[in-house]
Amino acid sequence: MKPQHVAIIMDGNGRWAQRRLLPRSAGHRAGFRRMLELSEYAFESGVKCLTLYALSAENLRRPQEELDELFGIFREYFSAQTEKLHRRGIRILSIGDRTLLPEDIQGRIAEAENATAGGTVGTLVLAIAYGGRQEIVAAVNRAVRAGREVTEEEFSSLLYTGSLPPPDLLIRTGRETRLSNFLLYQSAYTELYFSKKLFPDFTKGDFDKALKEYSLRDRRFGRV
Ligand code: IPE
Ligand code: IPE
Ligand code: MG
Repeated sequence: MKPQHVAIIMDGNGRWAQRRLLPRSAGHRAGFRRMLELSEYAFESGVKCLTLYALSAENLRRPQEELDELFGIFREYFSAQTEKLHRRGIRILSIGDRTLLPEDIQGRIAEAENATAGGTVGTLVLAIAYGGRQEIVAAVNRAVRAGREVTEEEFSSLLYTGSLPPPDLLIRTGRETRLSNFLLYQSAYTELYFSKKLFPDFTKGDFDKALKEYSLRDRRFGRV
């Protein structure tokens, strides 16, 4: 079985740079190139939805210099990729608390989402300024404002991910074996795959390996 929805925690950029005695920004640049390659490859491999964890809400506590570098990469991403993704029929969505981002980036995200809204080939979800706990609390508050109890299905639709299916496979690169506040609610039955490779070193072949391992997993969802 192939996963329809793959999520990736793209971790290890900083260590990749440190090992080469380069500034962390060089690692983010290398990770960015890898992200472009893998997002193209994932859709070619039949994945319908790809969610990439690009910046956590907690990452916003990093030094301003590093954040500025990351914001520069996001600006470049949206200017250069929106049209390309649109042509390929890929819809862009962004999840997270965008009010925490510089205003011009908020605008670029909205433009990218609008320009690609009609895409039917696949969905690329960018988690930027994203936090799973914050997402759950925001959904609870929306439910409270609506003034009535909600079903599990209705609650899911109140999350940033709305009507997207939950991830089938979650890949984390960079050696750590934790979720770091990513898709906490949605990953209840997601298959987890941890790679020791730092994200800039994570190749298409490594992605294939993760898909292969997924195909061997037995997803029981509590049944026998
Ligand atoms: C992941 O790489 C990218 C972001 C969190 C923005 P890191 O920057 O966390 O890299 P390491 O974990 O320090 O190596
Ligand atoms: C998780 O990586 C966030 C992203 C990859 C965007 P971190 O590097 O922030 O995670 P921790 O701090 O090691 O848990
Ligand atoms: Mg990290």
